Amino acid sequence: MVMIVKKGTVPPTPHTEFYAIPKVLAREEIHGSYGFSGAWSRKVHVRFYPTEQVKPPRKGDFDLVPAFPPEADVLQPYHIFTGRMPSGDDAIRSRRPIVHGTRTTLSIAKPTESMPKDTFFRNGERHEVYFVQDGGGVVRSEYGDLPFRKDVYVAIPKGTTYRVDLTSPKAWFLVVESIYPINFAPHYFNKEGQATLMSPVVETEIETPELPKFKDERGEFPVDVKHGGGKITRIMLGHHPFDLAGWEGALYPFVFDIKRHHGIAREIHTAPPMHQTFQSGNVPHSGFSLCSFVPVMAGWHPLEVPAPYAHFNVDSDELMFFCNPFYGAREGVVEEGSFTFHPGSTPHSPQGKAAERSLAARGKVQGRLAVMLDTYFESMRITTQGYAFRDPEYVLSWSENEPHAEAKGEGWESPSA
Ligand SMILES: [Fe+2]
Repeated sequence: MVMIVKKGTVPPTPHTEFYAIPKVLAREEIHGSYGFSGAWSRKVHVRFYPTEQVKPPRKGDFDLVPAFPPEADVLQPYHIFTGRMPSGDDAIRSRRPIVHGTRTTLSIAKPTESMPKDTFFRNGERHEVYFVQDGGGVVRSEYGDLPFRKDVYVAIPKGTTYRVDLTSPKAWFLVVESIYPINFAPHYFNKEGQATLMSPVVETEIETPELPKFKDERGEFPVDVKHGGGKITRIMLGHHPFDLAGWEGALYPFVFDIKRHHGIAREIHTAPPMHQTFQSGNVPHSGFSLCSFVPVMAGWHPLEVPAPYAHFNVDSDELMFFCNPFYGAREGVVEEGSFTFHPGSTPHSPQGKAAERSLAARGKVQGRLAVMLDTYFESMRITTQGYAFRDPEYVLSWSENEPHAEAKGEGWESPSA
């Protein structure tokens, strides 16, 4: 990630004396990547130490601890209708884990309101990437204000103190959490941090927070901190947490539009490595790959079969969020917001006659849009909240005795998706 320095327009107070800040303050300077401090470093130049607690910490009035149904111990593929999950509350309180592992959690949040005034959240145990399926708003953090909109990823590093304000009546997020940092797949970049010529993502196409005027305010500022497997502790600060002169580093919230994943087509199948946008952990030993299935031309070889073959992943669980229902191999099965969970060691393939139908898609641009996450050596479990919105027929949807809806759109997943 590129190193960025964002500096406010005011001099620091004595509280910042432990870091030298230039008298002449450029609003923004972009330096070379992987600056001298390392890829994951950050320095927040506070004007007031964000340490003063004016009330003892207490257990939060909500938590994000996942629960599991007894059925989670039965190995089977799942299809969860996340579009049918209810909306309400704010971005954090509406978060519902649907699948959970020891290092990765995926949740759905469908808020209808901004977080209460002057309240904040900090994920103290996992890095986050939101995918915005619907709605818009602003993530406000000590790094500044970061607007978001439909079809973007919002990456928020672990430890960031932030709040989510909506600018739409409601929003719909897929929230990915990892104990490891989540960033672009490193093999797309040279050692200077610049995208290579064939990379589907380019580091200059991210959107970064805009630092507003410092907040020199006293009062009561609650921060709900997530820790210990989803527990929430409320910390009450006596000073606004966004009172800073600037920050610098290579770990900061950013937005990346899924449409800026520049898909690459070829004569035959393009396999998931070219769909990969983000990566987390020490791949391929831990963490995950996150792929963006954007519209691209299906293979045009006369013998190409755009639909995937039957397969399963030995060391991966495969999780997929369908932004629209135009996904060839699952057409007639999925709807907007469908989420499939294919555990390792259970094969899956196109349902019904989807493979035959896909022949007509050779050389056509697909209408699909989907986010896929493959874990590495991590087994996921469906949660109680995910199980409640499952498609009970899904495990039987490959049966030849099952009726299959006719395709309405177009689009074919890659052979390994
Ligand atoms: Fe797959």
